[in-house]
Amino acid sequence: MKVRKAVIPAAGLGTRMLPATKTVPKEMLPMVDKPVIQYIIEEAVAAGIEDILIVTNRAKSAMDDYFDYYPELETRLNQAGKERELIEVRRAADLANIFYVRQKETKGLGHAIWRAKRFVGDEPFAVLLGDDIMRAKKPVTAQLVEAAEKYNACAVGVQKVSTEAISKYSSVKVSPLEERIFSVSDMNEKPRPEQIFSNYAILGRYVLTPAIFGILENVRPGYGGEIQLTDGLRELCLRDKMVAVDFEGRRYDTGNLNGFLEATIDFALDHPATGPWLRRFIREKAAQL
Ligand code: UTP
Repeated sequence: MKVRKAVIPAAGLGTRMLPATKTVPKEMLPMVDKPVIQYIIEEAVAAGIEDILIVTNRAKSAMDDYFDYYPELETRLNQAGKERELIEVRRAADLANIFYVRQKETKGLGHAIWRAKRFVGDEPFAVLLGDDIMRAKKPVTAQLVEAAEKYNACAVGVQKVSTEAISKYSSVKVSPLEERIFSVSDMNEKPRPEQIFSNYAILGRYVLTPAIFGILENVRPGYGGEIQLTDGLRELCLRDKMVAVDFEGRRYDTGNLNGFLEATIDFALDHPATGPWLRRFIREKAAQL
């Protein structure tokens, strides 16, 4: 199993970040000096992915523009001797082979993934949610790809969350294979207390086989009236081998205000242009609280 392709579903309406996301896609909001989506593309590239499909919608063409060349701007930067900015602007456009497909109706994450069927063909592929940024020494997608290749199986990225929090995620039924890797035999989307399989929640990263498409075609709308990816994954893990990887690293859900601010502060603290200043600023603020 060799994973060369990735799909980034980014066609959600972003209602938790309104009004900011009314006309600016949440994936394009700045995380210090780069849009959120760029961190996700960089993670995929760092995992050896060559071709990336972004699932978008009619309000999200800013993403296609961002990963394109911009000759007028580049000429101006060149003339002004702004070499660093020029390199960064070009680098974004040259990160990977990026393709786009529209999800014409917002029918849920499972439906968005199904739109990738033609792009994926008959290869295994990675899925990275467009608003989940991971910070890890080894890219989380690389951790999943490694496990998927080792076990010749699908893989889902999981971490332990509290019993109160698991009802917001998908809970997986697991049995251990080795340190941090489990085999998956069942799962539940947004479980009620009596439906919780374990406190391991699926968090934004997957390696799947094209078998998911045939399954998604027959999945009925589930929680919230949407085609849920978890309902398709449940069927997939009952049929085929699936592993869960308790990945090393921190996940930020930038699709809600608190997660977005946590990520902004952590990334800004680490950034050489903002870190020293922000440290001083936070100390001053904390003294006033
Ligand atoms: P979310 O639930 O986090 O995104 O979906 P959302 O629907 O934009 O969020 P809110 O609740 O309205 O704020 C998880 C992922 O699935 C994508 C989203 O873009 C996000 O990456 N998604 C969701 C789609 O691509 N299409 C959909 O129909 C729904």
